[in-house]
Amino acid sequence: MPGGPPPWAARAHQRDGGHPLATPARVAIVGTGNIARYHLQALRELPGAAEVVAAADTDQDRLAEFCAEHDVPQPYQDLAGLLAGAKPELVHLCTPPGLHVQQALACLAAGSSVLAEKPPALSLRELDRLASRGPGAPWFAAVFQHRFGSGARRLRQLAGAGVLGRPLLAVCHTTWFRDQAYFDVEWRGRWDSEGGGPTMGHGIHQLDLLLSVLGDWAEVSAIARRQARRMETEDLSLAHVTFTSGAVASVINSVLSPREETYLRFDFERATVEVTHLYGYGDEDWRITPAPGCAEAVLPAWRAGEAGVRSGHRAQFAEVLGCLAGGVPPPVTLADSRRTLSLAAGIYAAAFAGGPVRPADLGPGSPFYARMDGNGVPW
Ligand SMILES: NC(=O)c1ccc[n+]([C@@H]2O[C@H](COP(=O)([O-])OP(=O)(O)OC[C@H]3O[C@@H](n4cnc5c(N)ncnc54)[C@H](O)[C@@H]3O)[C@@H](O)[C@H]2O)c1
Repeated sequence: MPGGPPPWAARAHQRDGGHPLATPARVAIVGTGNIARYHLQALRELPGAAEVVAAADTDQDRLAEFCAEHDVPQPYQDLAGLLAGAKPELVHLCTPPGLHVQQALACLAAGSSVLAEKPPALSLRELDRLASRGPGAPWFAAVFQHRFGSGARRLRQLAGAGVLGRPLLAVCHTTWFRDQAYFDVEWRGRWDSEGGGPTMGHGIHQLDLLLSVLGDWAEVSAIARRQARRMETEDLSLAHVTFTSGAVASVINSVLSPREETYLRFDFERATVEVTHLYGYGDEDWRITPAPGCAEAVLPAWRAGEAGVRSGHRAQFAEVLGCLAGGVPPPVTLADSRRTLSLAAGIYAAAFAGGPVRPADLGPGSPFYARMDGNGVPW
């Protein structure tokens, strides 16, 4: 990682009372399917920061193959056994979304902090079951890896410092493609196990990044459709979002788009900032266009900003492990996750019950607090 030691190195130093060879964090992976392999690889790319001590899966063949292939020493048939036997400091939840909250509660009760894959919960009600926890360890954080590339960090830094002026307009398009076979996996495309379609499962990455730049949302209008896939949930949604800052955004979440693209665009008073990528970006994927007369105000600051870190699991894990070592809760906090999940709930509420919807409309009295499909979908 350019620009000096990685963030966890300094904090590992702190945790070890100043000894330069701090102990790697004891990490366990629960759910050894598709995304777990990315977790394992990303952790191994941060040598000295983490040691994967155990893994668990209810599918014994998959677990055995995963542990053998990646030299994970302790396989467990279930989470309870893993928590009691391996006593990990941090558990990565790579299980289907419907299990995240119940498994997180078990980890926290056993004293292990949690990094849960997206979406962190199926509903706001479910997420709020985690909210009674106070600050400090053990903590709960969610995987939203596209906050962590240097391009997004640089944008947030410049936007926060006022260099770009007021945010006016944003575009947040997740136009991806998933065929029918993808949704034929048991837990996908169902309200009870995935929580929603591309709004919850795919576009949620971009919603999270959008919110991390523009802050709290104030109102949303939306439509959601099931156009082409055989499943319970939507296969596309479109939304107009107003932020408390007054900025407005156009959002598309699709899994029906043969030419796949992830596109976010932020029009500030003094510059347009764009990123175009698919499943992860580097610095080269970002573009800044100053407004007439604003080049000197924005371009040197943009060029001097953070650089060199691709978005992805590794970038997020470096930050998470640094915070673990330093004894502070990492991003993405429960409050951050709640804001992202509330925008997803707002999109569904606006689409299925009629908009516009505000955050205050999504309290415990709303059917969309308990389920993303509220009282049911129109198809
Ligand atoms: N951040 C990203 O870019 C990204 C990408 C893909 C998937 N994901 C998320 O990762 C999670 C997993 O997705 P996936 O594609 O790897 O799914 P998957 O079906 O490939 O893997 C899930 C694994 O969990 C195991 N499992 C099920 N119940 C279990 C239990 N009670 N205890 C332990 N293990 C259990 C399954 O046997 C399976 O091996 C989902 O939340 C998904 O949304 C995130």
